[in-house]
Amino acid sequence: MQDMLLDMRSITKTFPGVKALDNVSLQVKTGEIHAICGENGAGKSTLMKVLSGVYPAGSYDGEIHYDGALTEMRDIADSEARGIIIIHQELALVPLLSIAENLFLGNENARGGVIDWRDTNRRTEALLRKVGLRDAPTTQVEKLGVGKQQLVEIAKALAKEVRLLILDEPTSALSESDSQKLLDLMLELKAQGMTQIIISHKLNEVRRVADSVTVIRDGQSVSSFDTSDGITEDRIVRDMVGRSMENRYPERTPEIGERIMRVADWSVYHPEHDDRQVIKDVGFDVRAGEVVGIAGLMGAGRTELAMSIFGRSWGQNISGTVEMHGQPA
Ligand SMILES: Nc1ncnc2c1ncn2[C@@H]1O[C@H](COP(=O)(O)OP(=O)(O)OP(=O)(O)O)[C@@H](O)[C@H]1O
Ligand SMILES: [Mg+2]
Repeated sequence: MQDMLLDMRSITKTFPGVKALDNVSLQVKTGEIHAICGENGAGKSTLMKVLSGVYPAGSYDGEIHYDGALTEMRDIADSEARGIIIIHQELALVPLLSIAENLFLGNENARGGVIDWRDTNRRTEALLRKVGLRDAPTTQVEKLGVGKQQLVEIAKALAKEVRLLILDEPTSALSESDSQKLLDLMLELKAQGMTQIIISHKLNEVRRVADSVTVIRDGQSVSSFDTSDGITEDRIVRDMVGRSMENRYPERTPEIGERIMRVADWSVYHPEHDDRQVIKDVGFDVRAGEVVGIAGLMGAGRTELAMSIFGRSWGQNISGTVEMHGQPA
């Protein structure tokens, strides 16, 4: 049997009024990529926060066995000292600092109170190379896209001695190609022997990288299996939602009526940077009885579009037309 790096037993965690985790178990083998799947609010992030000491020993029931020993984490520093590094769902880089400053934040290489920038930048370069980035260490993080920021987060983890890397929904804000790069990197780190946990809703990604999967539903671990056992996506979905899903997208027959709203040639500039056009010639119709989806990646301008139309509550130099029931509004 492969060594078990992590064995979380009967973890129960309660918030006022909510039992976020109810007797959850999780076993992760050394060197594998383990996926945790579950619907929104299932308890995935809470479980990882218990593991990483965000919620310290004493604030939950159950046992964490790590590296063969019963382990109690007092805080994040404690879990990091054991090589458990978590990259949270919400990225935690400081946008106005450089890549190098972010990588060594709180961990600066200083002598006599003076930071050795030459050495810091050199080490940053080496770490960036490991995650496939060629940006200068002095680049401001704000200037990087979310895909690169995610890679910087991983480089930051690699700057510490990481044995168990936890990625909480790492690709939810990434484009298809950035997601692929990230998954490739995960496989590369695995080849180097690193154990990883990935939390994801995206079952195609889970299938691509995970060696085993634990499904959590309503704060309970409902199943756990190796992906080599020929488990189908439908089976994972069934465990996630708790009933079988014959058809994930059942047919609907909406009754669509007349056009109620029309937006045409909608253009909006950034409220602070007047040369940055955020919305460019967008147009759409909304008809009675219809649900209109606005799709796009994070940063694509979806919220800005809606807010600039609704009471012009975002942006400047707005142009274009809005009609309601055929009348200019
Ligand atoms: N700090 C908190 N205080 C109170 N309730 C919380 C807190 N954190 C999480 N919860 C609740 O615990 C449950 C599990 O939340 P958690 O964030 O772990 O879910 P998740 O599986 O990570 O969901 P998602 O896929 O949306 O990230 C939810 O009902 C959530 O509302
Ligand atoms: Mg979460």
